[in-house]
Amino acid sequence: MSTNAPSGRPRVLLMHPILDPGPAILAEAAEVVHYPSNRPLDQQSIRQVAEGCVGIVSHLKDPIGPVVLSTPGLHCVSNVAVGFDNIDVATATANHVWVTNTPGVLDDATADFAFALIIAVARRMVQADTFVRQGNFRGWEIDMMLGADVHDATLGIVGIGRIGRGLARRAKGFNMRVLYADQSPLAPEVEQQLNATHVPLDRLLAESDFISLHVPLTKETHHLISTAQFAQMKPAAIIVNTSRGPVVDEAALVEALKTHRIAGAGIDVYEREPAVHPGLIALHNVVLAPHIASATTRTRSEMSAMAARNMATAVRGGKPPNVLNPDARR
Ligand code: DGY
Repeated sequence: MSTNAPSGRPRVLLMHPILDPGPAILAEAAEVVHYPSNRPLDQQSIRQVAEGCVGIVSHLKDPIGPVVLSTPGLHCVSNVAVGFDNIDVATATANHVWVTNTPGVLDDATADFAFALIIAVARRMVQADTFVRQGNFRGWEIDMMLGADVHDATLGIVGIGRIGRGLARRAKGFNMRVLYADQSPLAPEVEQQLNATHVPLDRLLAESDFISLHVPLTKETHHLISTAQFAQMKPAAIIVNTSRGPVVDEAALVEALKTHRIAGAGIDVYEREPAVHPGLIALHNVVLAPHIASATTRTRSEMSAMAARNMATAVRGGKPPNVLNPDARR
């Protein structure tokens, strides 16, 4: 099947809408095929629509595995996300399909949101809002809605990539003690700038008042935080996850919260997204968000533009700037 439209231009499948200026960048390079919004997001269905396309612009909820990646003529998948655990990159490489992502542009928005979750849980912002809206505020009380101090507390950052480092920079303004766990320690001068100390994960879990997760989802990080890790945390600990849901064993999290093994959680990502563990919904010491840590107008528009540029470059025969598997095409 030809991968060119009747106009002679190559076809690209856009799985979901993206923000300006993404659509214009794509349309300049290719004939854009839109994935029907009512069609299921399984590999077979995606493959059927992708037949005849040279590229797919995907979102993190699209499963891009062997069935999709063996579509004849496909040569680039551009994910509109920095995370790419929805794509089987090894199979893409074996099938000579480039995979690209959107690194860098969402670091600050995501770090802002992780910090917002820390404050929201510690200072019971959502509970307080509900309390007032429900007409329960009848005057100042000395012990009303007591929370935990964020300033001067110990913050444990698991994964010190760009977003983790962004969180450490924010923590400086709150005079926090920052510990971090990562397989690759920072250079001493960066540690000094961030005022961050490299420690083993066990020590981080035991000493932190707030624990924020910033690792990619891989085989190694799946359920990185489960019952044994919750058992190591302080009873006053608050955990925040803006990385990927399966990094945390959600059933173990619910148990740890229910039994007050830990004090609270701020959760933006879920193990079986978009499903949310019913145990989390029932708890008050949790703030829940619908995977929006990067959701500012500017950031999402920059992600859209970057993904579109990656695809446009590939369609024109160049090597996309944010290619994850440069060896895929010779
Ligand atoms: C990503 O880019 O991986 C985030 O989870 C969505 O912005």
